[in-house]
Amino acid sequence: MDQIEEIKSRLDIVEIIREYIPLKPAGINFRALCPFHREKSPSFIVSPEKQIWHCFGCGRGGDVFSFLMEIEGLGFAEVLRNLAPRAGVTLKKQDPKLTSQRNRLLDIMETAVNYYRKALERDEAGSIRKYLTGRGLKEETVESWQIGYSPDSWDDLLNLLRGKGYTENEIFLAGLSTKKDNSVRFYNRFRDRIMFPIFDISGAAVAFSARVRPDKEGEEKMGKYINSPATMIYDKSRILFGLDKAKMAIKSEDLAIIVEGQMDAITAHQNNFKNVVASSGTALTAEQVKLLKRYTNNIALGFDMDQAGQMAADRGVREAMAGEMNIKVILIPSGKDPDECIRNNPEDWTGAVKEAKAIMEYYFNKVFSGLNLEEVGDKRRAAKEILPILSKLGSNIEKDFWLKKLAEKIEVGENLLRETLSKFEKKELKTPIAGKPEKEADLKVRQSREEMLSELMLAFGIRFPGLLSYIIDRIQPDQIVGSANKLFYKDLIIYYNNVIGSENEPAGEEVSPKVSYDSLKNWLEEKFSRPSAGGEGDSQLKLLDRLVLLGDKDFYDLDEEAARGEIIKIIITLKRYYLIYRMKEIEKTIAHCEEEGEGEKARGLMEELKIMSDEMREVGE
Ligand code: UTP
Ligand code: MN
Repeated sequence: MDQIEEIKSRLDIVEIIREYIPLKPAGINFRALCPFHREKSPSFIVSPEKQIWHCFGCGRGGDVFSFLMEIEGLGFAEVLRNLAPRAGVTLKKQDPKLTSQRNRLLDIMETAVNYYRKALERDEAGSIRKYLTGRGLKEETVESWQIGYSPDSWDDLLNLLRGKGYTENEIFLAGLSTKKDNSVRFYNRFRDRIMFPIFDISGAAVAFSARVRPDKEGEEKMGKYINSPATMIYDKSRILFGLDKAKMAIKSEDLAIIVEGQMDAITAHQNNFKNVVASSGTALTAEQVKLLKRYTNNIALGFDMDQAGQMAADRGVREAMAGEMNIKVILIPSGKDPDECIRNNPEDWTGAVKEAKAIMEYYFNKVFSGLNLEEVGDKRRAAKEILPILSKLGSNIEKDFWLKKLAEKIEVGENLLRETLSKFEKKELKTPIAGKPEKEADLKVRQSREEMLSELMLAFGIRFPGLLSYIIDRIQPDQIVGSANKLFYKDLIIYYNNVIGSENEPAGEEVSPKVSYDSLKNWLEEKFSRPSAGGEGDSQLKLLDRLVLLGDKDFYDLDEEAARGEIIKIIITLKRYYLIYRMKEIEKTIAHCEEEGEGEKARGLMEELKIMSDEMREVGE
C-alpha cells in the first residue's frame, strides 16, 4: 500500500467532509447541498463504504483528496501534507510530491516557528515570559498557540534557514526576510518581538503577527504589531486567526464570534470560549465570511466599535447580510476589549454574548441615540443613515420588518420609505455568498433519456456484478448512448473478461467473487496509472464513482432480481433506439448508392438492413 492509500484507509471521508458541510443520511450514503455549485435540492452524495463523493448536479467528484483540493483550493501535495498527520502517517520527505514551492515555504515557516519558540523558552530578553504570564497566559496556552520570541538579531534565523538548504529567495518569499531598497543584503524581518504564528485552517503556520515587547511600546516607530506580507501561502483576506482551533466549536455551537485582536482570541480560548476567531485588526472580508459559512450561519461581532457606519462599510458584513446570515453585535461591558473583559470576569463576557443585539437593532439604537425625533431634520437623517444599511439585507421578510419599524419611529409613510429604499437597492450589487455565482441550469449537463438509461444500466451492473455477464452478452458498446459511457463500457468488458479469464473454471452465471467495485477501480487505476494525476483515467474513474453512487442514490433498496428486470427493459429500449437510428442511416446510404449506380454496395447494405429488422423483431417492436 502506498502512502496515499494508507492515508485514505485511515481517514473517514464522511468525517472530513462533515467539517465543511452538514451531511444527512440517505440510505447507505450521505447527502448534502453541493458546496461547489448553487442548488436547492441536495445532489451531493458521499459514500462511507466506497470513501468517495460525487455531485450529480455539477458533475464534480472523487475521493477525500480531491474534495479538499477543490474546497480549499490546494494542490495535491498540500492536501497530502495536511492529511498525513491526521491519519498518523509520517510522509517520506524525499517524496517528490512534497517538493512544491508552497510546501517549501510551509517548511520554512515551521522551522521559524520552532526557532522562535525555543528562543522564548530560553527567554534571552528575560522579561517576555513574565509579560505573557502577567497577561494571564498559561504555560499550555503559550504552547498550543506556539507563541515565540524573535531575538534581537539581524540574521540569526536567516543563517539557520540557509544552513538547512533554503535559498535566499525562498526565505524572502516566505516573508521572513527583508532588505533596504538600495541594498542587496537581506536581514530578519522580525526582530525583538513576541511572535504569534498565524495558522491556516488545517493548522499549518503561514504567517506571523509580531508584537512589540512591552518595554519598548512607546519608542517603537514600526507600530505595535508588524505582520507578514502577503505571500504564496498567506492571503490575509482569506485567513481568520484561530479558525483551525475554533472550527469544530463554531459548528457545534452554531455560532462564530469574531474579535479584532489575536490576544482577544487567545484569551477567549484559554477561558473555554472556543468558538472565537480574530480578524487581526482589519475589516471583515467577504472571503472570511465565506469561510465561516461552512460551519455556521450565525456570527457575532465582538469588535470595539465606535462608529456604526464603519462596520456597515466592511464588505464581509455586507456580504453576510446579503447572504441572510444572522449577525449580532456584542456590546462589551465598559468598552474594554474582549481580552480584558474575559480576564476581568468571564461571566461578563458570557452575559455580553447572550445579550448580543441583532445588527439592525444595533444600528437603530446607534443612530437614534444621537437624534431628536421631534426635529424634522433628524428624522430625515435617521432615514438617510438606516436605509442604505437596510438595503443590504438579503431577506425580504427581515427588510420589511425593519422598514415598518423605521416608518413607525420617524412617523413617515411606509411607501415613501420603500421608494427611497429601492433606489439604494439598485446600487447594490448582490453577489451570492456560497459557492461561485454559477447558475444551476448552466451546470446541469443535459442528458437524453437514452444516455440516462445507459448510465443506469452500467450502474446496476456495477452494483450487482452478478448481472454483468447478462449485460455483456446482450448489448454492444456501440449500442449504448454517451461517449463516456461507451468508453467506460468497453473497459468494463475488458476488465470482466480479464477477471473471468483468469479463473480456472468457466464462470457461467455464477459470478466470480473477484468482480467488484474495488477490483474494477484498481484495474482502472492500474490501466491509467496514478489516480489523482489527471488525464483521461481521471474521467473514467470519476464516472465509476458516479455510477456506483447513482445505483445507491435512487435505487438503494432495489434487489438483484428487480435490477435484472430493469436491465432487461433498458436493454430493449437502447437496442431499439440504436437499431432505428442505424436503419435510418443505412436507408440513406442505400438511396445514395443507388443514385450513384453502386448496385453491389447497395445490395450488401440491404442484407445488413434485413438482419437489423430481424433483430428489431427480436427485441420486440
Ligand atoms: P489592538 O491594538 O487592539 O491590539 O489591535 P491588541 O490585540 O489589543 O493587542 P494588545 O492587547 O495590546 O497586546 C487589534 C489587532 O489589530 C492588529 C493586530 O492583529 C491586533 O491584534 N494590529 C494592531 C496591527 O496589525 N498592527 C498594529 O500596529 C496594531
Ligand atoms: Mn488588547
